[in-house]
Amino acid sequence: MEKIKVAVIGATGAVGQVFMWMLSNHPWFELSYVTASAARVGQEYAQTVHWVMPFEMPEEIKKMVVKEFNYKSMKEEGVRIVFSALPAAVAQEAEPQLRSQGFYVFSNAAAMRYDSNVPILIPDTNVEQLDLIREQGYPQTGFCVTNANCVTTGLAMALAPLRKFGIKTITINSYQSVSGAGYPGLSSFDITDNCIPFIKGEEEKIEKEVKKILSINPDVYAYTVRVPVMFGHLETIWLDLEEDVELEDIVDAWNNFKEVQDLPSTPKQPIVYSDEPTFPQPKYAFWGDPKGMVVYTGRLKKKNGKIGFCLLVNNIVKGAAGGSIQNAEAFVSRYGIK
Ligand SMILES: NC(=O)c1ccc[n+]([C@@H]2O[C@H](COP(=O)([O-])OP(=O)(O)OC[C@H]3O[C@@H](n4cnc5c(N)ncnc54)[C@H](OP(=O)(O)O)[C@@H]3O)[C@@H](O)[C@H]2O)c1
Repeated sequence: MEKIKVAVIGATGAVGQVFMWMLSNHPWFELSYVTASAARVGQEYAQTVHWVMPFEMPEEIKKMVVKEFNYKSMKEEGVRIVFSALPAAVAQEAEPQLRSQGFYVFSNAAAMRYDSNVPILIPDTNVEQLDLIREQGYPQTGFCVTNANCVTTGLAMALAPLRKFGIKTITINSYQSVSGAGYPGLSSFDITDNCIPFIKGEEEKIEKEVKKILSINPDVYAYTVRVPVMFGHLETIWLDLEEDVELEDIVDAWNNFKEVQDLPSTPKQPIVYSDEPTFPQPKYAFWGDPKGMVVYTGRLKKKNGKIGFCLLVNNIVKGAAGGSIQNAEAFVSRYGIK
């Protein structure tokens, strides 16, 4: 198949860098257009970016030139899909415009997540919500598909196979890495040798998004904490379920969970459980194939009828850019490109 031309907007930030890395050699998508803020226009990517990934920058992207954020030039370049890693305030204006210009927008920003005709897509859990793009006017117009907030992505993944047991309440505490705040993000004065028990808007996002993604309506009790870790969000979770399930039922549900087949960015096993007592840890954030796309669970236990466990999600890969790429793959696989 001829590759589909794609753009990354916000390509120099933490999420943008993952897009650049994952799209540098993608079997379906050709990285054709890259933007950042105006001051970088005309500069080569490798010269201007502050690369924070824990591996080398791919050769293919080093000499790409950062271009002006201009719809006409993007169209002339043949771009069909736009991956957005813009801050929410910028995305709020840019993304509806991109959509009305006919682009297929896959966004990480929260700006459009709560619009009733915009899916918060995690193809493993709710691929049918892709059909909401028709309510935005597709195929006559473009559309916008968002992915969830990074903590919610891990949570929704681990809960999707457990929906069948009836989820009554979710109590979640998160231990979130600094890359979740973007680059340069937090001041090192604030986060070195410290934890910060407040992340603005995060707890509200978890509650709203998990309900929309999984079409469930549990009570949600969340605390979110920033910790001095580079990549990967750890979460501890307690659930009240309607059914009285055994721990083996939970492990079986995770092990057998694979709702989307044959997308290039979908791991063979999207949720991996281990009963190793110190598993999982953020230092495994880039494990898996593709790297960073697996959600790891562990520490499973049952007490007074409640089910408890830990999970690890790579916030910038599965929880952000990788999730968006998987969303675009799910769209191409379901609708093709017209
Ligand atoms: N980090 C995560 O784990 C994570 C997870 C899920 C979702 N998200 C969401 O994903 C989005 C990107 O997050 P991030 O962490 O990558 O942020 P970031 O590191 O701050 O990167 C923002 C990017 O947007 C560009 N940009 C900023 N203002 C712009 C403007 N006015 N016009 C054009 N480009 C502009 C920046 O370019 P310059 O470098 O030139 O300034 C940079 O490339 C946010 O909406 C965030 O909430 C992040």
